[in-house]
Amino acid sequence: MKDIISVYDFSKSDFDELFELTDKLRNMPIFPKILKEKTVALAFFEPSTRTYLSFNKAAINLGASTIGFSGEEGTSIAKGENLADTIRMLNNYADMIVIRHKFDGAAKFASEISEIPVINAGDGKHEHPTQTVIDFYTIYRNFKNIDGLTFGLMGDLRYARVVNSFLRALTRFKPKKVYLISPPQLSARKEILEELNYPYREVIDYNEVIEEIDVLYVTRIQKERFPDESEYEKVKESYVVDMNLVSKMRKDAIILHALPRVNEISREVDKTPQAKYFEQASYAVPVRMAIFHKIVGE
Ligand code: CP
Repeated sequence: MKDIISVYDFSKSDFDELFELTDKLRNMPIFPKILKEKTVALAFFEPSTRTYLSFNKAAINLGASTIGFSGEEGTSIAKGENLADTIRMLNNYADMIVIRHKFDGAAKFASEISEIPVINAGDGKHEHPTQTVIDFYTIYRNFKNIDGLTFGLMGDLRYARVVNSFLRALTRFKPKKVYLISPPQLSARKEILEELNYPYREVIDYNEVIEEIDVLYVTRIQKERFPDESEYEKVKESYVVDMNLVSKMRKDAIILHALPRVNEISREVDKTPQAKYFEQASYAVPVRMAIFHKIVGE
């Protein structure tokens, strides 16, 4: 495996191997130093807390040094340097690049220029593949399986890249049903829906389906991706997961969210047994360590 640009870079057996490897890494007192004397460049052209820090920590745990930036301000991009030249420079300093960028396709573009592996840490509204491995690992930990479950993806299904990666990754499995819950302005994009090989239904009112759902995946409304802020204002509070909604869920259902959240999940929900989004975030380092193992082939 050289680059990770899309979840389609992972087969079903890759997911299975990543789950097993993550289980092992979580129980290891000392990690194998498979990245000893390697340097990982963290090229984050967009803000991040979880992805930047967990990739950083995962690389260090495996023996790597890390270099990089978070935000364009401190780089020569601010002076007008282009992405291609920045990637060429990182090839001089590192053995692997983890990139986040506001433009769809930026990771793929970087991989075409780069001689060293490129990992997509989120490109515009396109994909966030390593987040999906974390999401699926959390489901695997809670249900022992992905197949046969009913999923509800709720909120911004148009601009949230985690949704695209999640829906695409489900094509590697056999979900019972997927409900796509959103206002019409934020519905999933047609080109994504055309790729799906499992039963799905678009829904506006979650009350129609909430009792069937095993995994409710909630997304932040992606304010920064709206072409017009007034459009964001119209949909910004479309859905809020509160105690009333949780009371309608199955007792063994789980709520996931890639985070950061704004106001789409009430703080009081954090205490409920269904709230698994902080557990989900806690898997970021071991899952990304497992992903580094796949890239170096060990
Ligand atoms: N889940 C996620 O990508 O979070 P950050 O934007 O904080 O990296």
